[in-house]
Amino acid sequence: MPHESPQTTHYSIVDIDGNAVSVTYTLNGSYGSGVTASGTGVLLNNEMDDFSAKPGAPNGGQMSYQGDANAIRPHKTPLSSMSPTIVLRDGRLFAVLGSPGGPTIINTVLEVLVDLVDFKMNVADAVAWPRFHHQWLPDRLQVERGFSPDTVEQLKLLGHQVEVTAQQGEVAAIVINDGWLEGAADPRTEGEAKGY
Ligand code: DON
Repeated sequence: MPHESPQTTHYSIVDIDGNAVSVTYTLNGSYGSGVTASGTGVLLNNEMDDFSAKPGAPNGGQMSYQGDANAIRPHKTPLSSMSPTIVLRDGRLFAVLGSPGGPTIINTVLEVLVDLVDFKMNVADAVAWPRFHHQWLPDRLQVERGFSPDTVEQLKLLGHQVEVTAQQGEVAAIVINDGWLEGAADPRTEGEAKGY
């Protein structure tokens, strides 16, 4: 069997008519709740972990601290960071992207968008570029390898507790450039950009 990541998955699709799909789907933790619905092969998630079981305490997998607004209550949906994204420019499709990564997803997607829109990178560079994450609590700045040691030193001098992380997210992105579809899978993992 090919490698199967235990992570949330994102895929981006654009068809020949310019229809776009951006999908992030998750069991939350690896194998979710560990329970398969009888006779279906469908694994059930453990999304209850995205509620705040105890305000002020971090949740299981993702060290995300939340308050009473995300408490477990009837008819409530738990918090989600998943950000499947479709961007239009002047009413026309510009980009389709998203990522796994729990609480890092929101800024992973934003960082790639800033690289595309403000720094005018091509899609492969924008997806490959080193990323960073700070979620207030825990009070630490995580940076991927690739930031200059000078920058890291300056951040430490400003009082940040900087940690180098192996990998942040797994972006799958498509950009429409002059009528061309340009796709990029994340070089951090084993995804692929495919045209049919
Ligand atoms: O909805 C959420 O934000 C989380 N359940 C996503 C979990 C996730 O991305 C874990 N894998 N990387």
